[in-house]
Amino acid sequence: MNRINLQILLGTIMVLATSVVVLFYGLNEEKRMAEAEEAQRGRAIEQGAALFEAQCSRCHGTQGTGIPGLCPPLNDRYFFDQRMKDVGWSGTLEDYIVATVSSGRLASTRPQLYPGQGTPAMPAFSDHFGGPLREDQIRTIAAFITNWSETAIAIEVPPTPSGPVVGTDITKELPEGDPAAGEALATTLGCVACHIAAPTGPVWLAKDGEPGVGSHAATRITQPDYTGKATTPEQYLFESIVNPNIFVVSGFASGVMPQSYANSLTDQDMANLIAYLLTLK
Ligand code: HEC
Ligand code: HEC
Repeated sequence: MNRINLQILLGTIMVLATSVVVLFYGLNEEKRMAEAEEAQRGRAIEQGAALFEAQCSRCHGTQGTGIPGLCPPLNDRYFFDQRMKDVGWSGTLEDYIVATVSSGRLASTRPQLYPGQGTPAMPAFSDHFGGPLREDQIRTIAAFITNWSETAIAIEVPPTPSGPVVGTDITKELPEGDPAAGEALATTLGCVACHIAAPTGPVWLAKDGEPGVGSHAATRITQPDYTGKATTPEQYLFESIVNPNIFVVSGFASGVMPQSYANSLTDQDMANLIAYLLTLK
């Protein structure tokens, strides 16, 4: 082999070696980019979860399962599979969430089912509309919600009452109540989202020397600032459920608890709820 040929051979080997190195890094770079993107999305979802808890859970529930009589579920098959078609939205679900959250909802599109808390039914969250969140924060919330798309189950629209509704006369005679049925009802109706899971309303369970709602029912009606009409603990609970604004427990806001229970519960439901609440001394 002469000198020139040797140089050509060595040159070729070096070019090949460099290509292998470049190719190797190039391939890995793509993988690294994908991993970085994944990690970034993971962080966005985490951030969105914290913001959802702080800003949205009091209406949409901590797990996004909604509160019957107040706000729709979002962690719900219908929301992911059908809702966009029903409202005629042609963009992505993520954009629908960002748009809704940014500007809020002046009026509910389903006032019978989910009236929200008056006007607006849902407040605007974007700082462009005087809300507390930046656009990038709203995007993280949308990432958190769309992350439910694979696992969301179908949540039943609140069933219509199985008989005549209870109404607002708190002196009316009720059937015998079943505390276990009342406890189950408090979960399906979403009462626990505000009264046990989060202290949006007065906490029901006794804690730190503060008695439970079953004891409060007896003492509230003797308070000098009591503005309702109940004369017994049972009537107080009945009244608090069907007419929440007649007396607003101090430290809490009026208009937060759904106002629709008089028209969605039966006498038996009410008796069961009262029987359950009275066990929480
Ligand atoms: C004051 C209660 C309230 C709060 C707080 C609230 N929402 Fe809502 N939200 C509602 C109501 C009421 C609707 C309207 C339902 C309708 O139009 O049928 C709604 C609708 C929505 C919708 C559209 C649902 C659909 O199927 O069209 C999304 C998405 C949504 N909210 C997300 C959020 C997020 C995210 C937050 C927190 C940043 C939030 N909401 C905070 C009450 C609330
Ligand atoms: C969206 C949150 C929310 C939901 C859902 C909710 N409540 Fe309330 N509740 C409140 C708030 C806030 C108050 C305190 C203001 C007032 O007195 O109206 C309250 C007050 C009460 C009181 C009086 C408590 C006391 O210590 O004197 C009772 C009883 C009660 N709710 C029962 C229920 C029942 C039963 C349900 C379900 C059928 C329910 N609530 C659903 C927010 C809620």
